Amino acid sequence: MKKFNRTLVTAALPYANGPKHIGHLAGAYLPADIYTRFLRNRGEEVLFVCGSDEHGTAIPIEAQKENTNPQAIIDRYHALLKSNFEKFGIAFDVYHRTSDKTHHETASEFFLKMHEKGLFTEDTTDQFFDEEKQTFLADRYIKGTCPNCSFPNAFGDQCEKCGKSLSPNELINPVSTLSDKPPVLKSTKHWYLPLQNYEPWLKQWLLEEHKGDWKTNVYGQSKSWIDGGLSPRAMTRDLEWGVKVPLENAEGKVLYVWFDAPIGYISATKKFFEELESQKFDFSYPENSVIKSGAADDWKKWWQDKSTRLLHFIGKDNIVFHCIIFPVMLHAEGEYIVPDNVPANEFLNLEGDKMSTSRKWSVEMVDYFESFPGKEDVLRYMLTSIAPETKDADFSWKDFQTRNNSELVAILGNFVNRVMVLSHKFYNGEVPENIKPNQKEKDLIAEIERCQIAIEANIRDFKFREALFELMNMARAGNKYLADNEPWKTVKTDADHTATIMFHAIQVCAHLSWWMNPFIPFSASKLCEILNFNKDNYTFGNFEQVPVKHQLGEAIHLFSNIEDDVIQVQLDKLMATKNAIASAETLNKSEKKDAEAAKASIQFDDFSKMDLRVGTILSAEKVKKADKLLMLQVDLGFETRTIVSGIALHFETEILIGKQVCVLANLEARTIKGIESKGMILMAEDADGKLHLMSPENLISAGSKIA
Ligand code: 2FM
Ligand code: ZN
Repeated sequence: MKKFNRTLVTAALPYANGPKHIGHLAGAYLPADIYTRFLRNRGEEVLFVCGSDEHGTAIPIEAQKENTNPQAIIDRYHALLKSNFEKFGIAFDVYHRTSDKTHHETASEFFLKMHEKGLFTEDTTDQFFDEEKQTFLADRYIKGTCPNCSFPNAFGDQCEKCGKSLSPNELINPVSTLSDKPPVLKSTKHWYLPLQNYEPWLKQWLLEEHKGDWKTNVYGQSKSWIDGGLSPRAMTRDLEWGVKVPLENAEGKVLYVWFDAPIGYISATKKFFEELESQKFDFSYPENSVIKSGAADDWKKWWQDKSTRLLHFIGKDNIVFHCIIFPVMLHAEGEYIVPDNVPANEFLNLEGDKMSTSRKWSVEMVDYFESFPGKEDVLRYMLTSIAPETKDADFSWKDFQTRNNSELVAILGNFVNRVMVLSHKFYNGEVPENIKPNQKEKDLIAEIERCQIAIEANIRDFKFREALFELMNMARAGNKYLADNEPWKTVKTDADHTATIMFHAIQVCAHLSWWMNPFIPFSASKLCEILNFNKDNYTFGNFEQVPVKHQLGEAIHLFSNIEDDVIQVQLDKLMATKNAIASAETLNKSEKKDAEAAKASIQFDDFSKMDLRVGTILSAEKVKKADKLLMLQVDLGFETRTIVSGIALHFETEILIGKQVCVLANLEARTIKGIESKGMILMAEDADGKLHLMSPENLISAGSKIA
């Protein structure tokens, strides 16, 4: 094990093109925050940097969608992301942004230095070009049919349906998303990083040196990239938005977003020390930081001194960039350290489906705040309990409710509350003397120590789920201790041992308050308040944290139950989304068919001839010797009609009773299979030819006009 003097923690810079969901939180920000908070509490030198990724094609695309300019988009989302993270207690030392001058300068210098060292190759290749818009097209601006799954709207870099990464020339029938026209190929020059030249170094550094200490998912993915053979990768793009390529004859070209974004970690560090020196804090959070003073130049120590340990917290889609491309850049530039570990997480699904903001199948951080104000820790707890550390995990609202009610409330909150209530009842909230300890107390202390060792070991090993479980074991041990010793009974029979029980139970609360901080910091602070205990006074390795006669604060509940109806609201929201997704997909399928079948337009007069009404189906029975027909009695308010309808193969008769439907009431009567039918039921036909009722949302009077 190498010995390091300081730890630099980075969390993936989120694109400032929209709000971020709880999957992002679980993937990178929360584990990074737990890790950093823990090191801070242990008195280690640590810096936690992040910021908004404001370049790349995603930003201009969003601007175009919203009919505005890229600057407006990044300003809006940078502010939103910064405040969302703050609300969730993600305690960065600095949250920077890549549109900032410091970043542009840093990225340009980095590129120039590599260029001067002759590390890039130049190549002119054919790229897709939109003739109407007179612009080269980034991969994301090209759409076509996926060669893998035939999804008709796959992007040039990835198919959102099957997840396959693509290059635009693999798409079938590619079109420009800017003009909807097929693009042409046009030659353009770019600067390439010949990754294959670094294969021997990568094999040594990553595959040999990190064989045992990187997570298997991260190591495995990196290894398969390296084993698959590396090739030159363009580090520049034809685009207006981004860091301009700092060379002559490079007009209209910017640095590839994956070249400049990770350099954002460096510029964020620079910004932190610039602000620390000048004591002007626009991006930094001095209250979070253990680094209280320093000079602008100190960033170098964090990036260029081999005794700094660099850790990148990311989601699995970012592995190749953080384990191969960025390390190669750092190594090739020559003056930088490379990451010591990249503890990437897998993905978090939502109720069994892939989370996606664009499909609206997600829980955005902003939505959570609205629905569960003051319950940030519940989400932190939930996301850590199910963290996708080794494989994809699933977030379900029922599980969320159970973990809150049966764990946070019933185990942790309940323990603290019992201790506080009894302490106030027996001793007016004053810590009693430890008069008569026996083996039970020794066992309790041993278990608390075991938990502490296990929490720390698991955190250092990036196993946050396990660490949190051990934290709860500490509370479980407290509960068991109370249940076994029953101070509410012994208070009448053995005052001395009761004092000892309560003394020990209070100490367990104090330990909990300190160990809770990395995971659920808001509740940890609340517990400190309840105990009237300052977390900074915690002495590591000492069981007795709160002295005898110490006055405890007021007993308030740390957590509260979440009721079924609150969870049902979330489930209903998702159900509505699911229905919307399903009908959008159906629409997609039938789009073509419908376009062909669209009828010639009619005059309003033609329409107004139709008497459309709401009818309530009173009865439905099959018509003999006609598989497809049902005879319905339909209440039209002013009369009940018999209507024969060809819907028998689509509905069970019982289902129809009481349903409301649209009825064309003035259709000429017809006799069908000997039954006089007066009117027609209107139905919707989906792409597969299945019929659906078009019922009003709420019951309305039969006979109401549809206009
Ligand atoms: O995937 C993403 O959201 C990227 N914006 C992550 C960038 S991480 C780093 F390189 F900055
Ligand atoms: Zn596909």
